[in-house]
Amino acid sequence: MTDFSNFTAPGINNLHPYVPGKPIEELERELGLSGTIKLASNENPLGPSPLGRKAAAESIAGINLYPDDSGYRLKAKLAAKYGLAPEQLVLGAGSSDVIDMVARTFLSPGGNAVFSRYGFAMYPIYTTAAGAQCRVADALPAEHKDMPYGHDLEAMAALVDEGTRVVFVANPNNPTGTWLEAGVLRTFLQDLPEEVIVVLDEAYTEYVTEPDFPNGVAWLAEFPNLLVTRTFSKIYGLAGLRIGYGMANAALIDLIGRVRHPFNVNTPALAAAEAALDDETFLQRSRNTNTAGLVQLASGFSSMGLSWIPSIGNFITVNVQRDGTQVYQQLLKKGVIVRPVANYDLPEHVRVTVGTEMENQRFLDALQEVLEA
Ligand SMILES: Cc1ncc(COP(=O)(O)O)c(C=O)c1O
Repeated sequence: MTDFSNFTAPGINNLHPYVPGKPIEELERELGLSGTIKLASNENPLGPSPLGRKAAAESIAGINLYPDDSGYRLKAKLAAKYGLAPEQLVLGAGSSDVIDMVARTFLSPGGNAVFSRYGFAMYPIYTTAAGAQCRVADALPAEHKDMPYGHDLEAMAALVDEGTRVVFVANPNNPTGTWLEAGVLRTFLQDLPEEVIVVLDEAYTEYVTEPDFPNGVAWLAEFPNLLVTRTFSKIYGLAGLRIGYGMANAALIDLIGRVRHPFNVNTPALAAAEAALDDETFLQRSRNTNTAGLVQLASGFSSMGLSWIPSIGNFITVNVQRDGTQVYQQLLKKGVIVRPVANYDLPEHVRVTVGTEMENQRFLDALQEVLEA
């Protein structure tokens, strides 16, 4: 039979597909369990935004028609919220769709993208799929006193060369939960060649309560090479609908928009996102649940003698001092789904999403049993 791998586009044969968190239904089917909890994909444990959910349900009556390809209403609302023009926005089927559009617009064989070790897993995938080279900067060391495993911006800048088209910065980063302060990030942007696109991935920004945490949108006017991505998958609780967005200067958005698939964002997603933007009560409740959950998990780890990477996202990555994938598998048997992070070069860690108080406790109890077994 023909070996089709001899005929693929550059990059495809080196591609390792993204491994998503295990779905509850799949685990329950495999192990005959019920009452499983999933703390594996940094989803909102409080469910969808109630306003978003209602709007999505109401929009179903119109799904015989294609969605509004321009995303007119949502873009107008986002533009007003951030003080931007609608032309400065691109909508995606999740923010990962926007990141992919950037890669397909600017990356190709001979070019490269720079990102940090332990950076979000989609950066190497989209870079490789575009046939470009991944230039992976060392992260700050595990012993670093302020930001272990964090992005080392100096190391990243040092990898930028004339072939660099894109730099990916996740703030905060997944799976480490580490972050960059406004001052250092701004200096990094100032020092980069102006033709290098910086994707500032702010998927978790709405959870952050740190005072020194930057808002990338405020820098768009100053840096024409900056593109900020955000999502409705996390705090808004709409991961299943797949909707996110990118913000940049209009000329950059125009280029990226050329590779966008027509009708990439569906009607219920557009309706839900528009409504969820107003759901302040839900956002505040989600943020409070998360802040309390981070404290609860950290204190549980501390009483088990485990260290963890200090996180400001809606997840924490904990060092389980043994094979993390095995711990993950033992937790599965107890009906708790977390995320092994060996694929991120962290073989003795697992990442847990902050759940409700009860879910966090159930995870901590299960982890303790697994570690004592
Ligand atoms: C850092 C980061 N960026 C982007 C995404 C993509 O999310 P979505 O495509 O659902 O917007 C994720 C999802 O986990 C993430 O962790």
